[in-house]
Amino acid sequence: MAAQSGKSWVLAVTAQTPTNIAVIKYWGKRDEELILPINDSISVTLDPDHLCTTTSVAVSPAFTHDRMWLNGKEVSLSGGRYQNCLRELRSRASDVEDEQKGVKITKKDWEKLHVHIVSYNNFPTAAGLASSAAGLACLVFSLAKLMNVKDDHSRLSAIARQGSGSACRSLYGGFVKWIMGKEENGSDSIAVQLADEKHWDDLVIIIAVVSSRQKETSSTSGMRETVETSMLIEHRAKEVVPKRIVKMEEAIENRDFPAFARLTCADSNQFHAVCLDTSPPIFYMNDTSHRIISCVEKWNRFEGTPQVAYTFDAGPNAVLISHNRKAAALLLQRLLFYFPPQADADLNSYVIGDKTILQDAG
Ligand code: ADP
Ligand code: DP6
Ligand code: CO
Repeated sequence: MAAQSGKSWVLAVTAQTPTNIAVIKYWGKRDEELILPINDSISVTLDPDHLCTTTSVAVSPAFTHDRMWLNGKEVSLSGGRYQNCLRELRSRASDVEDEQKGVKITKKDWEKLHVHIVSYNNFPTAAGLASSAAGLACLVFSLAKLMNVKDDHSRLSAIARQGSGSACRSLYGGFVKWIMGKEENGSDSIAVQLADEKHWDDLVIIIAVVSSRQKETSSTSGMRETVETSMLIEHRAKEVVPKRIVKMEEAIENRDFPAFARLTCADSNQFHAVCLDTSPPIFYMNDTSHRIISCVEKWNRFEGTPQVAYTFDAGPNAVLISHNRKAAALLLQRLLFYFPPQADADLNSYVIGDKTILQDAG
């Protein structure tokens, strides 16, 4: 058994993981258990100073079962997804030695030892700002460190994917593609980095928090209902997205902002269109979201070339990507004029950041 018998000890690791926002959206699974998507997706990883998860994981012989606390409240780990991630990580764990504490854990010990997980999101949870992406990526990353899992980021992305699909993309900074893969066991459904965070550092991302309330329809159940009932989703996944992925990769490689903006806005709008085509229809955006879209569309048309791209995940909050700092300053000025933050307003906060990398705070 682990360590010196009779002695109590705790080993802990803390990590921080930023969220990512898809510019070509993942919406729909072909395998619910393994979380395999019906199309490729591309995202940008955000700055962890603004939207990130911090997770501490600990192991001790004194722990009698696995437990997790999310934002200060204990939550159940019994769901299949958490169990799948824990099982995958335990099976890949290696020996760990901490000489100072006199602790030695062997590969075999990890099957019996229990972990405690304490996680905190510094942004709204389950409100359409991809908390599941940052949360599950951070969970997998921190446990992998604790358990001395030697797999590279791409293998870890396949484990995070089984916690929440979008999480696989948060293992990398910059621009990231989740390749849907072909294998039935999901071994090739992994994230790859398209370009690092320095590649296009002119971009400034502003997040307009329209509502921090928990959404009524989770991403998981929303996309399940879409796949079951929408007539448009198949066309999107098979005809539209594959072409958009190629164009988006080109736009990112060439730092072609007009193309990037057009594709990003079109894909967000089509994602919300398939939500509306779901029965019963799913409304993630609200009137304020629609007003933000009109505002950006008008401005881009007025300028003659796109200055700002908008994208909305499964929630009403706007992610606005500006071409450069000047466009970001003008955007913020306009937003503050049309949507002044007030305690009772629909839009009451702005978060400004740019892209960055995964950080290990441990
Ligand atoms: P979002 O748009 O915020 O990603 P989802 O409906 O996809 O919303 O997922 C929200 C769920 O993700 C939460 O109810 C919780 O189960 C899980 N989650 C969010 N943050 C964390 C975290 N830090 N650690 C573990 N699980 C998390
Ligand atoms: C709209 O990854 O939250 O944010 O895989 O069921 O956990 P599960 O869903 P999740 O879905 C994200 C959907 C999206 C688009 C995206 O991030 O690509
Ligand atoms: Co999510």
